[in-house]
Amino acid sequence: MNEKNTYYITTPIYYPSDKLHIGHSYTTVACDALARFKRMQGKKVMFLTGTDEHGQKIQDKAAAAGVTPKQYVDNIVEGAGGVKDLWKLMNISYDRFIRTTDDYHIASCQKIFQKLYDQGDIYKSVYKGHYCKPCESFWTDSQLKDGKCPDCGGDVYEAEEEAYFFKTGKYADRLLKYYEDHPAFIQPETRKNEMIAFINQGLQDTCVSRTSVSWGIPVPFDPKHTMYVWVDALSNYISALGYGNDQYNDYDAFWPADLHMVGKEILRFHTILWPAMLMALDLPLPERVFGHGWLLLDGGKMSKSKGNVVDPAVLCERYSVDAIRYFLLREIPFGNDGVFSNEALIARINSDLANDLGNLLSRTVAMAEKYFGGTLPAARAAGEFDDDLIKTVSEMPAKVAACMDDLLIPQALQEVFKAIQRANKYIDETAPWALAKDEANRDRLAMVLYNLCEALRFATVLLAPFLPDTADKMAEQLGLSAADRAWDGLRFGGKTDYTVHKGDALFPRIDAAKELAELAAAHEAQVKAAQEKAAAAEKAAAAEKAAAPAPAAAENIEHQPEVSFDDFCKVELRVAQVLTCETLPESKKLLKMTLFDGERERTILSGIAKWYKPEDLIGRKVGIVANLAPRPMMKGKYVSEGMVMAADMPDGGASVVFFPDDVLPGSAIH
Ligand code: MSP
Repeated sequence: MNEKNTYYITTPIYYPSDKLHIGHSYTTVACDALARFKRMQGKKVMFLTGTDEHGQKIQDKAAAAGVTPKQYVDNIVEGAGGVKDLWKLMNISYDRFIRTTDDYHIASCQKIFQKLYDQGDIYKSVYKGHYCKPCESFWTDSQLKDGKCPDCGGDVYEAEEEAYFFKTGKYADRLLKYYEDHPAFIQPETRKNEMIAFINQGLQDTCVSRTSVSWGIPVPFDPKHTMYVWVDALSNYISALGYGNDQYNDYDAFWPADLHMVGKEILRFHTILWPAMLMALDLPLPERVFGHGWLLLDGGKMSKSKGNVVDPAVLCERYSVDAIRYFLLREIPFGNDGVFSNEALIARINSDLANDLGNLLSRTVAMAEKYFGGTLPAARAAGEFDDDLIKTVSEMPAKVAACMDDLLIPQALQEVFKAIQRANKYIDETAPWALAKDEANRDRLAMVLYNLCEALRFATVLLAPFLPDTADKMAEQLGLSAADRAWDGLRFGGKTDYTVHKGDALFPRIDAAKELAELAAAHEAQVKAAQEKAAAAEKAAAAEKAAAPAPAAAENIEHQPEVSFDDFCKVELRVAQVLTCETLPESKKLLKMTLFDGERERTILSGIAKWYKPEDLIGRKVGIVANLAPRPMMKGKYVSEGMVMAADMPDGGASVVFFPDDVLPGSAIH
């Protein structure tokens, strides 16, 4: 059987609600190393990453920043220091970057949603849950924390919302059968068992639309609904290849994906919902989904809300991109959680990169220059210890490749470093400085240094996918051509001549005690500065408040009896767009409007004719009381179906509440 010559690998698409942190870099760097490794092995690789840009959180962040959601995500994704800049800095060699706000992706999602609806896999129903008003989020029983909102800790109340559902449950048996027939589909193995247990509990259908979130892809046949995250997000893996759009034409070449790499908390969506969607679309399933662990800090997952994020750009600046890539790939057992700490990072840099790798290169190159002026002579004599070194080095490529196939990334690096350590030991065993003392040992000395150069050439080739900059620096010092660096040319003795040039130390050794003290001091200074800033802001706000004139207030405020929260929620306040508006010959007070309320057109008569002309209102978005019982007016000639919200003005006039253009008709007002 011909082995497939393509490799399609994906990272999750990231929420650009804030700047990305080192935890996000972890997944991306791992995928990058795999993509580079496969490319080196001659595969045609498609490495996809991108951003997942819709949803309430982004809408809220944008509103807080006073910009539109699109402006907000544009800045985080494309702006200076944003997602794309970070991936450039970290040498991420993605082939394609998808943004879920890209037109072609929106077109694909709408086609997919429509198809699933047309064939009965998506249906309309009612979403029941616990609603948290400030967070505008529905929660299930199991998501609540002590009966409260898991995000803000506030009260929730029972609520219902019309929504579309995808029939995930229908695919439960087929999913279980698929796992059984494709044992490598879900990895690691322990996580597969969690997925099976989840299905066996009884698989519920999945809510795939919202009416309360306007920043999303509209459901094509019912635009007051937007697609609720997962259909929009998961479809990226095929829309980015051109499925359902004309932007790209790579679906046939690359689908099904070879690997979806995801964090453990989203493995369920990738191994249950996504395959069920693909089954419904009658498309093949990805070969493998790998759920990796989290990078923890202070004992918990990094998150902005916990204030414990680590900025990857700052780390790269301080320690070099490759030091950070190495730490992420080597330190954390792939599949398990791992802890980020400055101590662990510095220890790794010093022991593996400065000591083992850096010293091997600098000692070898320095000795080749010192004893042979940089060019190794052709006359060489084999001797004791050579065979063992050659064996270890020669076996390294196959072992590293096997680890990479099994997604054992730290083990792959360990194999390289085993050979590096073996080569360092070889220097101690052969003691070139002692050989150099006697001219009779010249051929032997040449062989020792030649063997070391070959070992370093292997290390250069095999480290390139993990540490691209370092591999380039090594190649430069060793005088390697592109051909010398080819995966196919990895045969010990494959390069016969060496002319080396000494360069800078690959990784200068860090004085750990001094560095940690400096970091602690910098952290303290940061905390102090933040506290001082907060105190100054508080003081300024208090001063501003004291200086401000007392706000003017309406006179004779009329109070209503207090109502319960549940009673308040019974009043349905919604945004509607004024389609037509006219004065009535029989009334000086009333304007008659037709409005689109997100679902239908309705007529409302409003007593604002003295203050507004029809052209002031046509096309505008206004607030209405939508569930007010219809009221006959003008002796039954008209029926007003609701009320337009307006504030009383001091002169007895009215000021209508208008909403910005990007608020959709039908949006709830709270
Ligand atoms: N947008 C969704 C994914 C949709 S994929 C169709 C999402 N985005 S996310 O930005 O919240 O997370 C993206 C990835 O980053 C996830 O795989 C998540 O596990 C990973 N990480 C976020 N924090 C992490 C750590 N602290 N450590 C390791 N990975 C972490 O989920």
